[in-house]
Amino acid sequence: MLIRYKKSFEKIAMGLLSFMPSEKDIKQLQQTMKSYETEDRWQLYLWKDEDIIGAVGVYMNEDTVEIQHISVNPSYRQEGIGKKMIKELKDLHKDKQVIPNASTSNFFHKCEEDSE
Ligand SMILES: CC(C)(COP(=O)(O)OP(=O)(O)OC[C@H]1O[C@@H](n2cnc3c(N)ncnc32)[C@H](O)[C@@H]1OP(=O)(O)O)[C@@H](O)C(=O)NCCC(=O)NCCS
Repeated sequence: MLIRYKKSFEKIAMGLLSFMPSEKDIKQLQQTMKSYETEDRWQLYLWKDEDIIGAVGVYMNEDTVEIQHISVNPSYRQEGIGKKMIKELKDLHKDKQVIPNASTSNFFHKCEEDSE
């Protein structure tokens, strides 16, 4: 299930976000974490089964929820968790359209194609 980020999950969240190609630079990653912690429109969710193994970060617009980051622990990939995170995000925000940005569009469109 998706849970909202809180400060006690900082290390695990940073580890997960660091798998994004755009977050390889530590300064960039720290800036990203700061935005998720301080800016209302930046919202970070974590995927929790027994452990926390995924992260999805969004930017809330008036009508859209833009996926900026999506990442799964490499040990748990290819099990459908990425796809489930997008589905739950859509269920959580039924009043808005969930869309990708340039960094997440490849996987997002792959999921859309699979569900057609
Ligand atoms: C992208 C990511 C979150 C997918 O997580 P996952 O839990 O393994 O995804 P799922 O199991 O739901 O789906 C797996 C499918 O997505 C495909 N896929 C994985 N990464 C992809 C990508 N970057 N672009 C397009 N498709 C991708 C896999 O090839 C697989 O396809 P198949 O079902 O035809 O074999 C994970 O690979 C990851 O953390 N990558 C590093 C971070 C990243 O690059 N994020 C941005 C992606 S655009």
